Amino acid sequence: MLSKCVVEPDMNTFQKWLEDASDWRGKVAPIAQGQIFYNQRGCVACHNTTGAPGGTGPTWKDMFGNTIPLADGGTLVADEAYVKESILDPQAKIHKGFGPPSPMPSFKGAFKDYDIEAITVLYEVNQRQLSWTRCEAVHGARSQSRQSPPGMRRNAASKVSRPRLMFGGLKIRSLS
Ligand code: HEC
Repeated sequence: MLSKCVVEPDMNTFQKWLEDASDWRGKVAPIAQGQIFYNQRGCVACHNTTGAPGGTGPTWKDMFGNTIPLADGGTLVADEAYVKESILDPQAKIHKGFGPPSPMPSFKGAFKDYDIEAITVLYEVNQRQLSWTRCEAVHGARSQSRQSPPGMRRNAASKVSRPRLMFGGLKIRSLS
């Protein structure tokens, strides 16, 4: 089998290609990308989305927006900032019963901000047990329709803002 090999002239051009290739925005829906990270970056080894007890890490079911007890005796409400901090610096605030120290490795440098947003969307969605297939059934992940309901796929030429969906107070953000 013959394959095509592209040789970039210098390291900068190669780095640029690498960055473009790993930028999923506009190609994959945020929630689907969150699911890919969940499975491929090993979150699934310690976190479940079913609520089953006994995992190495806390379940992601029904966590977003709810009160989390902390190992130091305090509490907090799980929001976007907490998800981000937990991913970058797991020792900062430790979920009661899971340390200290937290066995979770830091993913600092492993994710861009928009990657973390995709994970957060997944985390949010598990709070309401909304399955992606339900959104997809209505909107069509591959559709570029500008009619209502709008397609999820980004239409680069479109000036129309991406859909923002509301499900009983749950906001599913859509990245452009
Ligand atoms: C080796 C096991 C392990 C892996 C792998 C792991 N985590 Fe964790 N995670 C934990 C543990 C244990 C906690 C609870 C202790 C703490 O607060 O740090 C936690 C806490 C969290 C929290 C805070 C949630 C809460 O209920 O307090 C988030 C968000 C999170 N992890 C995201 C991720 C993401 C995203 C990945 C994959 C990129 C991941 N984790 C991979 C073990 C893990």
